[in-house]
Amino acid sequence: MDNLVSMEHLSKDEIFSLIETAIEFKQATNYPNLSNKYIANLFFENSTRTKCSFEMAEKKLGMNVIHFETSTSSVSKGESLYDTCKTLESIGANALVIRHSDNAYYEQLDGLNIPVINGGDGSGQHPTQSLLDLMTIYEEFGTFEGLNVLICGDIVNSRVARSNYHSLEKLGADVMFSSPDVWKDDTMKAPYVDIDAHIDQVDIVMLLRVQHERHQDAGSFGKEAYHQGFGLTKERYNKMKEHAIIMHPAPVNRGVEIDTELVESDKARIFKQMENGVYLRMSVLNQLINRKGN
Ligand code: CP
Repeated sequence: MDNLVSMEHLSKDEIFSLIETAIEFKQATNYPNLSNKYIANLFFENSTRTKCSFEMAEKKLGMNVIHFETSTSSVSKGESLYDTCKTLESIGANALVIRHSDNAYYEQLDGLNIPVINGGDGSGQHPTQSLLDLMTIYEEFGTFEGLNVLICGDIVNSRVARSNYHSLEKLGADVMFSSPDVWKDDTMKAPYVDIDAHIDQVDIVMLLRVQHERHQDAGSFGKEAYHQGFGLTKERYNKMKEHAIIMHPAPVNRGVEIDTELVESDKARIFKQMENGVYLRMSVLNQLINRKGN
């Protein structure tokens, strides 16, 4: 693995290796020492979890984090993404974490000689979110084979849905979608189902954030109408299997994708996903930074 830009490029063995190392880090008190390595986090779209989680992971590994703010960088003078990244490589960065609104922005960066870690590209991929989701599922169930996963919401705009669909299917889980017609995406072959017909049968309910910022017609759904039609209401929660869990990449629109009282309920793993994200990102950084020749 030279870069981490898409879940579609990872084999099953690579996925398991990253998850297992992350679980080891979670149980450890000492971590690899990467204090001679430098990294920059370039976030061209807003973030709380991914940006802070990467910074925490980098600091736990002793890495030196180069401060980079898009608003005060020469990007504001029109410098291209490639020239910005090549500059950071030239001054000594050993790796870059990048979030960008353009799908597959990383295809412009083939001329770089340092690893790129995709922190989310438009509606394309969010590989570290998918890996931390997989880690959370693996900790819970110890396998992916035969698990029934219902992914609910704004499928077409969701890089989390796309990343998880590909990885869960690869690992042997059965994925179903539930979504309003306008947010369906037929490029993924999972069946679309009625949430009420399946809520009592699935092992994992994965809720997606309604991405208002990516909608042309932001007013197409009222919050209450969406919640009643596609959200996790208390009534639906009470029908879930005893061992079933709730996931959400967050940020959560409380009262829309999920009833606010369920966000920290017994079945919810939303904050555990965030906790796991630090160890999973440590695992990714450790593997990429230590690759041959870097
Ligand atoms: N889940 C996630 O990517 O959150 P942020 O947008 O806050 O990074």
